[in-house]
Amino acid sequence: YKGEYAHYTLKEISEQPSTILNAGNNTRLEIDLAADSIKHAKNVYITGSGTSYNAALIAKFLFSKYAKIKIDPVISSEAQFSPDIFEEKSILIAVSQSGESADVLETVNIAKKTGSKIISIVNIMTSSLVHQSSVAMGLNCGPEIGVAATKSFTSQLVVIYKIVDNICNGCIGLDLTNASEAIKKIISNDSKIKEVAKRLKNVSDIYVLGRGIHYPIALEGSLKLKELTYIHAEGLPGGELKHGPLALMDSNSYVLIINPNDSTYNDTLTSAREIKARGAKIIGISDMPSDVYDYWLDIPSVSESLYPLVEIVPIQLLAYHSAVDRDFDPDYPRNLAKSVTVK
Ligand code: F6R
Repeated sequence: YKGEYAHYTLKEISEQPSTILNAGNNTRLEIDLAADSIKHAKNVYITGSGTSYNAALIAKFLFSKYAKIKIDPVISSEAQFSPDIFEEKSILIAVSQSGESADVLETVNIAKKTGSKIISIVNIMTSSLVHQSSVAMGLNCGPEIGVAATKSFTSQLVVIYKIVDNICNGCIGLDLTNASEAIKKIISNDSKIKEVAKRLKNVSDIYVLGRGIHYPIALEGSLKLKELTYIHAEGLPGGELKHGPLALMDSNSYVLIINPNDSTYNDTLTSAREIKARGAKIIGISDMPSDVYDYWLDIPSVSESLYPLVEIVPIQLLAYHSAVDRDFDPDYPRNLAKSVTVK
C-alpha cells in the first residue's frame, strides 16, 4: 500500500529512518550466534547478487577494519566457475533480500558440499535461503515492492554493523539514532535533490566515484541509476581515474563524487578537481562544501563508520526523481524482476 506516496520506491526510500532502527531486532540471538561462529572460523566468505553483493563488499571493509577478520566476497553468479575457492568447513554468509535468488542458493549448495556452515542475512524469513541456513538474521524492514532494492540495502548494512560491533565488543559505537536523524534530514531536503535530478534529463552517461568503503557505495549508486533511469552509470574507485576512465571525461560528463569528511576526503577532492579540469559537471555528496562542486548534495556528519548508510540515500532519491522526470516507472524497471529465481 503506497499511501501518500506516488510510488513504492519513494515510500521505501522514505521509510529508512525507521527501518534502519528495526534491522536485526527480531533476531538478536541469531546475531550473537553468527558473531560467535565467525569469530572462531578459519575462513569466512560472503556472497550475494546485485545490491546484496554491494552490501557484501561493504562488509569486507567493516570486518577487516573493526573486527580484524578477513572475509572474502564472492559474486553469487560467479561461484559455479570457481567452486575451489571454498575451503573445507568454512562459513558462508549469504546476503539476500528475497532469499530466493537462484544464484545465491546455488552458491550455498556449493559451499555446503565443502562442509561449510551457512549464515544468512535475509528479509523474507520463510524463504528457501532461511531453510538452507544454520543461522538466519532478519532485515525486519517489511515487504519491499519496488524492484530496485533501497531499504533492504540499508537494513543489510545495519545487520552487518551489528555482527561486527558484537565481535569487537562495541568498537563501532553504533549510533543508529544519529544515522536515522541524518537520513531524515536528507529526505527533508528532497526538493534540492529533485532540482539536481532535472539537470540529468538529457544526460546519457554518469560516473559515480568513491574511495575506500565509499567505492561499494559508488557501485550501488550506479546500479540504482542504471535500473531506475536507464542512464549508463559506472561506479569507479577514485584512484583509478588516471588508469583509464579519465579519457572519458569531457564537458558532457556528469560525475557524482561521494566525499564525506573522513580519511578519503582529500584524495577524493583531488580526483574531483582533475575531472572538473576536463569540463565535467560535478555533483558532490558531502558534509563539506567545496567550490569544485557544480551541485552540492549535503549530508549531515555522522561517525566515520556510518557514512555508507547515510550517503546512499541522496543517490537513491536522485535516481528516483530522475526516473520520474524521464517518465519511467521507478517501481517496475523494464526487463527486471524483483526476485531472480532462474539462472
Ligand atoms: C538491485 C536489485 C538486484 C537485487 C539482486 C539480489 O536494486 O534489486 O540487484 O539486489 O537481484 O536480490 P536478492 O537480494 O533478493 O537476492
